[in-house]
Amino acid sequence: MRTALTALTDELKRLKSTGVKSVAVSEESVAALRRVIAARRSAAMPAAESPRTEPASAPRPSASAPVSMPVSAPVRPAPAPKPPEAEVRKLPAPPVVTLPPGDKTTRWAWLREQVLTNPVCAANVRPGKKIVLGVGSLDAKIMFVGEAPGAEEEIQGEPFVGPAGQLLTRMIGGMGLKREEVYIGNIMNWRPQMPVAAGAEQVGNRPPTPEELAFCLPFLRAQIEIVNPLLIVALGSTAAQGLLGADSFKTLGEIRGRWQQFAGKPVMVTYHPSYILRNASNRSKRMVWEDLLQVMDRAGMPISDKQRGYYLDK
Ligand code: URA
Repeated sequence: MRTALTALTDELKRLKSTGVKSVAVSEESVAALRRVIAARRSAAMPAAESPRTEPASAPRPSASAPVSMPVSAPVRPAPAPKPPEAEVRKLPAPPVVTLPPGDKTTRWAWLREQVLTNPVCAANVRPGKKIVLGVGSLDAKIMFVGEAPGAEEEIQGEPFVGPAGQLLTRMIGGMGLKREEVYIGNIMNWRPQMPVAAGAEQVGNRPPTPEELAFCLPFLRAQIEIVNPLLIVALGSTAAQGLLGADSFKTLGEIRGRWQQFAGKPVMVTYHPSYILRNASNRSKRMVWEDLLQVMDRAGMPISDKQRGYYLDK
């Protein structure tokens, strides 16, 4: 345990030296670290003075919130990391994307070329990593829209292929569809960068800035124009903000499960699969699933009794 703690401390020190101010830590990890710290304290203290594992006044992570931990401080929830200014390049005005005439395949290939050769996209991708455009059926009825590529996505050049993507693929399967039958995109075409030491890999992700979202949005609009889906599913609050506007809601709970509009298409906003990975309760799965049942209903898909009953157990 001591070795693991020393390795953790060394890694946090290294991250701090590269300018990282906070890192995301799962609730389980925070609880485990608290137990270790409490155990070490009580070992160093007379039994009668041992504090409880967690002081009553200690801030507790809420059951559903992601938790982040300041690099230099003891285990304590910290505000979500702000984009480090140095890494957020000043962006020019968003591009004007006017699709050429032609069939869907021709127009999508043209768009792909525009995105892959866009100098702003290229300047925001780290060497050796890929710009990411949507994938899937150009005749899809349903288009899923996420936030931005993560570590795995920028390696493979495909949206939603990491852990959250694997869960999204299973959710699509639960709807009775294959991944190739829907279209999956992101608002962002690059992974938002955070500072790292030269040659080191980026650890964690940061949310895109409003300017970054606005720059990439025309490329997503063009994908919507090409695919012309019946409806869109926005995954998570950043995707919802990018599509609906940052001031259109305060919490995702306000708008999820209720139809919105973007580019003339109905939009169902639901939680991001990474939220489910952090909160794997049947309650949170059921919330997302109820949103997807509405999507299936609106898309005219058959829904079995078994599907209607998924995640009803508490
Ligand atoms: N999260 C997203 O929002 N998009 C991806 O492509 C991967 C993870």
